[in-house]
Amino acid sequence: MRADGREPIREASRLLAGRRNAVALTGAGISVESGIPSFRGSQGMWAKYDPMEYATLHSFMQSPRKVWNMLSEMVSVCGFAVPNAAHKGLATLEAMGVVRAVITQNVDGLHQAAGSRRVIEYHGNLDELVCVNCWKRFPTRDRWTPGDVPRCDCGEILKPNVVLFGEPIPWLAQEQAEEEARTCGVLVVIGTSAQVSPACDIPRIAKESGAAVVEINPEETSLSGNVADLHLWGSASEVIGRIIERLKEADDVTPGH
Ligand code: OAD
Repeated sequence: MRADGREPIREASRLLAGRRNAVALTGAGISVESGIPSFRGSQGMWAKYDPMEYATLHSFMQSPRKVWNMLSEMVSVCGFAVPNAAHKGLATLEAMGVVRAVITQNVDGLHQAAGSRRVIEYHGNLDELVCVNCWKRFPTRDRWTPGDVPRCDCGEILKPNVVLFGEPIPWLAQEQAEEEARTCGVLVVIGTSAQVSPACDIPRIAKESGAAVVEINPEETSLSGNVADLHLWGSASEVIGRIIERLKEADDVTPGH
């Protein structure tokens, strides 16, 4: 299914209104307009920090102070960030009964802050720290100060409760995400380069289960032109805003339905 000359926003809105049970899969691109850098590309985190040195479980255990330098930057930036129009737009689509869940690779908590109620955090959340020895958990704000390596009461190092390379996806999040992918009518993939496994399998699972896959991204990705049925080029906030406008104009979706 392709846009075939139809205006793509209209086509995406028609799919969303017709099938209703849509799920969103989001990546770092949706938070760029909140001032949080993405990972890949010239302005991304991985241009500054080599992920093999800074984002693996092995590197964290070997050199926690070094890795905490990078993590501290993320905690500070995310701590000041507020949801942008794209996060708020997804919450509106949930309230309209169009989107039923958001699966996010992001660890910034901005979907919840925007009002989305069903959020599956595939890579964890920076809001929480976990002890690498006794697994005790703490709110990040209670234990973290810039420049320090936070410690547990047992004396061991605390790690943000996020998935580093070499760690498994939290099993419940993975189960829930795959179930959403298998059963949704439309998967809207927003702001991800779809290069990290297993998150990048979610669009394929949805597609093989019969869902339409709609991509929102200003750039081409590995999904464009194959897994994605429709590519809406542009920033997440602009495209989501236009979809909401279109859905509200059409009388087949009633807010709050
Ligand atoms: P990437 O940095 O790989 O990709 C971000 C995507 O967002 C790119 O395709 C951009 O074109 C797009 N983008 C940029 N600005 C945008 C905007 N305003 N609106 C919409 N899209 C925009 O980030 P992810 O795909 O999320 O994992 O990265 C996946 C994982 O790789 C992360 O969760 C993280 C990272 O390593 C772990 O740390 C385990």
